[in-house]
Amino acid sequence: MRAWTGIALVLAASLVLGGADDPPSTPPATTLSAPPEAPWKPDVRLVYESDTRAYYRPCGCNLSSAGGLSRRATLLENLREQSAPVVLCSGGDFYGTADVFNEAKSRFVARMMGLLEYDAIGVGEMDLSFGLSTLSADVRSFELPVVCANLVSQVDTGELAFPPHRVVTRGGTRYGFIGLLSPSTQLQPMDKAHAPAATVDYTLKDPVEAAQAVVPELRASCDVLIVLAHMSDTDATKLVERVPGIDLVVLGHDPQGNPIGVPTKVGGAYIVRATSKGQNVGELCIRQDDRRHVAEVFNRMHHMDASYPDDPAMTARIEAFEEENAKIQKELFARQQLASDTNDPYAGRYLGLGTCQSCHVEEFEVYANTRHARAYATLSSQFVHRDTNCVGCHVTGFGEAGGFSGVRMRGASVDLIDVQCEACHGPGRDHARDGSYRETAIQSCVRCHTPNDDPDFDFATDWPKIAH
Ligand code: HEC
Ligand code: HEC
Ligand code: HEC
Ligand code: HEC
Repeated sequence: MRAWTGIALVLAASLVLGGADDPPSTPPATTLSAPPEAPWKPDVRLVYESDTRAYYRPCGCNLSSAGGLSRRATLLENLREQSAPVVLCSGGDFYGTADVFNEAKSRFVARMMGLLEYDAIGVGEMDLSFGLSTLSADVRSFELPVVCANLVSQVDTGELAFPPHRVVTRGGTRYGFIGLLSPSTQLQPMDKAHAPAATVDYTLKDPVEAAQAVVPELRASCDVLIVLAHMSDTDATKLVERVPGIDLVVLGHDPQGNPIGVPTKVGGAYIVRATSKGQNVGELCIRQDDRRHVAEVFNRMHHMDASYPDDPAMTARIEAFEEENAKIQKELFARQQLASDTNDPYAGRYLGLGTCQSCHVEEFEVYANTRHARAYATLSSQFVHRDTNCVGCHVTGFGEAGGFSGVRMRGASVDLIDVQCEACHGPGRDHARDGSYRETAIQSCVRCHTPNDDPDFDFATDWPKIAH
């Protein structure tokens, strides 16, 4: 937990007063807290990221929360001004989870990736959240250089949805990109009630076989061969072992958010990964030999915290989008509310604060004075209380049977805003009296106080601040 000063005070002042005498609303300009430079002069910089998952801005939970397209735009501009050319790619999952509230944000991220001039983009399973037809429409509209060698759109003819590979020439070197999506990444939508009616309109071929078919031909027409691989570390290792000729693998699909600092070397190939939620952007400095092949690499992982300044043009686009999106969300919300199912079999599983309060008066009094009791207002004051990327940790039982649904604001959900008793102790219908209800609560903190949302969290010092 950190003292919430600086930006927060300025932000609070401008929200409350909004007057002309406000202190400047941006933090003092800081230099990029960039990772160390390569010990030699790079010939090219391969800039890569994966799993943005519709997080187009940092959550703002903490001053050091990382991410956002505005900082990414600044970093890219900065790197592109340097002498070694930049090749920019993504390992996929730029779209978010399959719920109606994420669709507009996902497509906004896609549009911005077009503006940021990516050279190659792989496909992740989340990019299919709204059906292949939605992804294809965005790829066309925003001219996204998407490649995927095993995503089949026409089951009968075997026709691929996107080109299997592409070659980008920069500074005289030809970079060949292949996209691959592992079938084992298929995720279930977080909550069926949120999933749009998109039918599965594609199939996936075996990625190793697809690579074996295209690598030899691409190898002959490029100097550096890069696979945008949306798969696990193990699958990527298997891939490079079975398919000779791959120089670099940019991994996507990392739900836990574990970027790889030092590239893993398997045979002659390097495996890199910068994830997730837009928090990290990798910069692989490459030194080439006289045949323009990869001679040496040095990885720089940019953790996109507040020391990376915002790009004013991108910030303006984000603000315009948010204004537009607020209208879309309101409309969707109204529709969902009308369609809501009142026969929820789990209704009553979470009892709500009022029930706990009726027997545990002392605990309630302590709780009422903590920020947990105002966590939802924090979001609603920024108009992000319907954002499924945010509500999870600012309400009770989100994504759980009978918990806050974020959609249905009648009945249970209206009573489950904020981080209530049951957010830590678990659903009240299971009220244990054997100490396990207490134990569940001790384990609960790190579900929300993650290293990104609260880097300094420590139970021993933080629990006493709210102890009851
Ligand atoms: C469901 C998610 C969630 C869980 C579980 C959770 N927290 Fe929090 N916590 C939050 C959020 C969100 C905030 C910030 C609320 C705000 O200001 O909007 C917060 C704020 C806090 C604060 C600042 C409180 C204040 O009044 O200054 C402390 C301390 C804290 N949490 C400790 C804990 C501890 C200890 C646990 C486990 C016993 C825990 N939290 C469990 C989400 C959670
Ligand atoms: C993984 C859990 C998690 C998610 C998801 C999350 N938050 Fe938070 N949020 C927290 C925690 C924990 C805190 C308290 C951090 C601290 O005290 O340092 C917090 C605090 C905040 C605060 C500061 C409140 C204050 O008054 O100091 C803001 C603002 C905030 N969150 C906004 C957001 C937004 C916007 C999103 C969505 C983009 C979001 N949060 C998503 C866990 C989360
Ligand atoms: C931020 C998470 C969190 C929230 C919110 C929370 N509790 Fe707790 N509660 C805990 C933890 C952790 C413990 C155990 C602490 C310990 O014993 O070290 C605990 C202990 C308790 C105990 C047992 C005390 C004892 O002496 O054994 C009761 C009763 C209790 N909580 C009731 C409530 C009620 C009622 C609410 C809502 C008004 C609430 N709690 C809200 C985390 C939470
Ligand atoms: C009908 C009264 C009643 C209601 C309602 C109630 N409790 Fe309790 N609770 C008790 C009693 C009695 C005990 C056991 C004696 C004690 O510790 O006070 C207890 C114990 C606990 C304990 C410690 C037990 C353990 O095994 O760790 C926690 C935590 C707790 N309650 C939380 C809650 C929460 C959260 C709610 C709301 C969902 C809630 N209680 C609702 C009466 C109630």
